Amino acid sequence: MFGEPMQVTISSGNNVNGTLVLPLFEGEEALPEIVEGIPTTLKSQVNRVLADGDFKAKANATLTLVGTEGGKAMLVGLGTTEKADAHAYREAGATVVASCKKVHGSEMTVVFHDADLACMTSFAEGMMLRDYAYDLYKKKEDDDDKTALSARINCNEGDATALSAAIDRAASIVSGVHLSRDLGNCPPNDMYPMAFAQKAELWADQYENVSVQVIDYEEAKRKGMGGLVAVGMGSSRKPCMVIFTLNGDQKGQHPMLVGKGITFDTGGISLKPGANMDEMKYDMGGSATVFGTMEALASSGYPHKVVGITCMAENMPAANAQRPGDVITTLSGKTIEVLNTDAEGRLVLSDGLWKAGTDYDPEYIVDFATLTGACVVALGHEATGLWSNDDEFRTRIHEAGNDVGELAWPMPLLPAFEKEMTDSKIADTRNLGAGRYGGANTAAAFLKQFVPNRSDDDDAEQITWAHMDIAGTYWGAKTNKMVGYGATGVHVRTMVRLITGE
Ligand code: BES
Ligand code: ZN
Ligand code: ZN
Repeated sequence: MFGEPMQVTISSGNNVNGTLVLPLFEGEEALPEIVEGIPTTLKSQVNRVLADGDFKAKANATLTLVGTEGGKAMLVGLGTTEKADAHAYREAGATVVASCKKVHGSEMTVVFHDADLACMTSFAEGMMLRDYAYDLYKKKEDDDDKTALSARINCNEGDATALSAAIDRAASIVSGVHLSRDLGNCPPNDMYPMAFAQKAELWADQYENVSVQVIDYEEAKRKGMGGLVAVGMGSSRKPCMVIFTLNGDQKGQHPMLVGKGITFDTGGISLKPGANMDEMKYDMGGSATVFGTMEALASSGYPHKVVGITCMAENMPAANAQRPGDVITTLSGKTIEVLNTDAEGRLVLSDGLWKAGTDYDPEYIVDFATLTGACVVALGHEATGLWSNDDEFRTRIHEAGNDVGELAWPMPLLPAFEKEMTDSKIADTRNLGAGRYGGANTAAAFLKQFVPNRSDDDDAEQITWAHMDIAGTYWGAKTNKMVGYGATGVHVRTMVRLITGE
């Protein structure tokens, strides 16, 4: 945990160390004259390949040249100049790292032409994001002489300072993405509620402006966190709530993040089928998103207040587990008829959302949860489901996601879904929809019942809130070029964009 992203440095010289990386546009038949510093033999080899049409520079195509006296090169396609935006550069950077083999060595020098600062930064970000492996549990071979990959970017003297600052900031944000992935990839025998809490406390020690508070099982029971307790009580690894505060001494409204942290979801007594159940270790992806975002903000020096709440529990079938049919009382005082113990994420979130809105003064609340299989049915692995009680706020999140290449798709919060989730005969709400359909929407409508109003006044507005269902995007997204396998760390970058505006 807390591994540094690969090193990317800036040089205003023309030297090429290690493998030369050349991002190219589709249709270029020769390297422009302005590309300096490339050994002549290598340059003529590149030009021959381009002139012969052997490399067309289609987006994310690569070609490696070895055996020239001038050294090695990897050409990478950006697509046509019109389409080569910051997203194309980010993907090209990731593609370079994904295509890196032993022959390329561990050092690279990137030489751009016609790239602005944002595109160069995006390329570096793509490299750093993709340079990630989760190998903590693998035996290290003695002859494993793998050195960490590093890259240097050659740029004009005038750009060096600004580019260097932009890349440092990107590296801080990537450290948050990697932290989210580390937490998600960690096997569930080692990632349980209090283990997550301990990692959070250890992490907080390195920052003066960060604090972590842990509400353990006993305290959660005392405080009346009936949702968290009901889900977690059947496990020998007891539940807890972890609260992250950045710049807590600041007054006034602040963003508030809430995460579902089910460290393993067996379904409980409403047991899941066995196939692929191992993937339910990722069911704490929402909490990892919150923790990763706090790291990204803290390490990039964000100066304002942000608070994150993660609701941690392991959902197990046991003699002391909750049953379908139980009625529980949540922190809000509202009761829930638990009709299916596998719809547990919404139970723990009911307490997290209520606490977020009543003990703090949020400008807005965003929750993250691997909440429903139905969301994966609706959107596949391509986009996160996005609901909000405020259309303008939902659009802001959607746009922040687009800006960083993490899609979050607008979904409807309809009164009919709310009605469906509040028509229990014996309780205030029910945790299961009446039918099979619209399961991601009914889940969102359920959560809305636990978002407090701004005050106790009768005409008070509900706190601005958005719900992001990351069931399809937190892992298993094969088209996501930023990740090889396992947890994606999605939406850490979206949240940094939303919160900082940068
Ligand atoms: N963690 C699951 C949702 C999930 C399923 C995420 C598959 C990713 C992939 C959640 O706790 C769950 O089991 N939800 C149920 C809800 C249902 C019982 C109303 C579901 O989606 O089937
Ligand atoms: Zn479940
Ligand atoms: Zn779950």
